[in-house]
Amino acid sequence: MHAAKSLASLVGNTPLVALSRYGKGLRNNIFGKCEFLNPGGSVKDRIAFHMIDKAEAAGVLVPGGTIVEATAGNTGIGLALAAALKGYKLVTYMSEKVSKDKVNLLQALGAETIILPGGKPISDPEHFMNLARTRAKESGAWLANQFFNESNVEAHYQTTGPEIWKQTEGTVDVLVAGVGTGGTLTGTGRFLKEKNPDVKIVLADPVGSMLAGLVKGEESTSSSYLVEGIGQDFVPGNFDTSLVDEVIQVRDEDSVQAAKDLLKTEAIFVGSSSGCIAFAALQYCREFGGDGKNIVAILPDGGRGYISTIYDQSWLDTKLPTS
Ligand SMILES: Cc1ncc(COP(=O)(O)O)c(C=O)c1O
Repeated sequence: MHAAKSLASLVGNTPLVALSRYGKGLRNNIFGKCEFLNPGGSVKDRIAFHMIDKAEAAGVLVPGGTIVEATAGNTGIGLALAAALKGYKLVTYMSEKVSKDKVNLLQALGAETIILPGGKPISDPEHFMNLARTRAKESGAWLANQFFNESNVEAHYQTTGPEIWKQTEGTVDVLVAGVGTGGTLTGTGRFLKEKNPDVKIVLADPVGSMLAGLVKGEESTSSSYLVEGIGQDFVPGNFDTSLVDEVIQVRDEDSVQAAKDLLKTEAIFVGSSSGCIAFAALQYCREFGGDGKNIVAILPDGGRGYISTIYDQSWLDTKLPTS
């Protein structure tokens, strides 16, 4: 019998695919780590299931309990699947920037969704992350707390990193990732650098995020941008900036175009953060040489979460008139 025990055991072990058409003409090899093929459609399934397992083991999440989380959508979707399997309630707090597609999906999965105005600083008690924390505290629910929960980094250290090492037979030279919570970059990057200290970690950061400036030690402010899920206006506790070797800032128009190029050249249908990361991988090759290096780009989620945004030309026309 070749049946999985449950959906939980289908999380992770995502394929690595050569992006040779997308990276045509380069003398480096770019590979995409297909996180969009996780059961819930994103890299966040890994941390959702792992954080819940750890919370159950620690006795802070008990049968019939409620999970509260601040999310750009994907962690909520992963948590909703785990909650359905295990019988928990889920309450998600999101900024209004999160696409309607992801909000609709969360509602279909049975989560309560609370959408709040964006643009508030993290110091504001009305920031969606602070409201999630308050709700959890006042109601006695468990806050998954992906931005600071060490189980997030651990999930990637134990799974994403080893998978990439194995899939590349130890020949990975460069990892390109974005940072939302920092879990992917920190956990995967730490594992790969422990295996080979020469592995370079590249942060792909949307123009408008403060993280690029922060890593470069520059005065840094944030402004709005379209890419969802990566970039920040504060420093997430799970982001170990010391792992980053290079930073590549990507404009919204380049992230959107790269997502469309991945579809056209590779039949890979992904979201805006994948576009940002794939563009940064190309840029890295252009800037740092064509010497046969193996570059792994994380592709965090699929395009179905963005049908009403970056894949809707009328939406794009209002947000990015030049695209
Ligand atoms: C679409 C998308 N891409 C990338 C990320 C970033 O991953 P991480 O939180 O591990 O830094 C997120 C996280 O929120 C996301 O939703």
